[in-house]
Amino acid sequence: MKGIILAGGTGSRLWPITLGNSKQLIPIYDKPMVYYPLSTLMTAGVREALIITAPEHADLFRSLLGDGSAWGMRIEFAIQPSPDGLAQAFIIGESFAAGDSVALALGDNIFHGSGFESALPDTKNFEGGHIFAYPVPDPERYGVIEFDDDGTALSIEEKPHKPKSRFAIPGVYFYGPDVVDVAKGIKPSQRGELEITSVSEHYLREGRLRVSVLDAGTMWFDTGTIDSMMDASEYVRAVERRTGAKIACPEEIAWRQGWITSDQLATIAGPLKKSGYGSYLLGLLES
Ligand code: DAU
Repeated sequence: MKGIILAGGTGSRLWPITLGNSKQLIPIYDKPMVYYPLSTLMTAGVREALIITAPEHADLFRSLLGDGSAWGMRIEFAIQPSPDGLAQAFIIGESFAAGDSVALALGDNIFHGSGFESALPDTKNFEGGHIFAYPVPDPERYGVIEFDDDGTALSIEEKPHKPKSRFAIPGVYFYGPDVVDVAKGIKPSQRGELEITSVSEHYLREGRLRVSVLDAGTMWFDTGTIDSMMDASEYVRAVERRTGAKIACPEEIAWRQGWITSDQLATIAGPLKKSGYGSYLLGLLES
């Protein structure tokens, strides 16, 4: 399975912070926002990722992430000329996907917790669709999924005025190799975007959509606003300080996955020692 991270958009809800920078490069506590969705994909076992950015930010992402080889990955970059919708990611990423299944992670979504990790699908020979549902007090801000009494998914709607449930659909999606064709077949919504909910709806209609309901064992943040960004930063800070373990540390995940050796981890850690990040990585080797 390949992975795509959507890190484009205008970030207009964060202006002026994002007037001269990409939203997904802004820190969430001690690391750039894009490390979080990248870590989500890595935790799912995805080793090849395409980062889609706005044209003016492509070089910034390249200098941060390189080609991924330092983390035992392959990272490519593509540009989205204008933010025409999340489902466009699959069309832009067609040649990258090259007929493989694809996981899409939104650049501003953060997941944490053992509940989430155990709900991740097996990415080998993946077919159909797999999405998540998360109960929230303000479902109208998100894609919303409705269930019947037996827990069978009934409908999916994007930011409905009158939500049929309190279950939001968080920003990580797993689809089979046919997702590029599915994305090509959907029509723009009333707001003129190719909606990711239309892709999931397609799989739902065909009876090929699995939905995992996440509970309080998972923390999920959509860091699209200044307050949610601060909430996420405070959460990461509190957990990291209390446990001594980092959330969404790509170097650590790569090492634990066996994608890089201890020697490689030590080499990465050296130049990062001043901020404490490198010392953390070296501490992993000692323990
Ligand atoms: O956070 C989960 C929600 O994300 C889902 O529940 C919704 O179904 C889904 O549509 C999406 O809603 P948002 O309003 O939060 O999407 P937003 O426009 O903020 O875009 C999410 C990320 O994708 C953000 O990092 C910007 C980036 N993006 C967005 C669009 C529309 C792109 O890179 N290109 C785009 O065309």
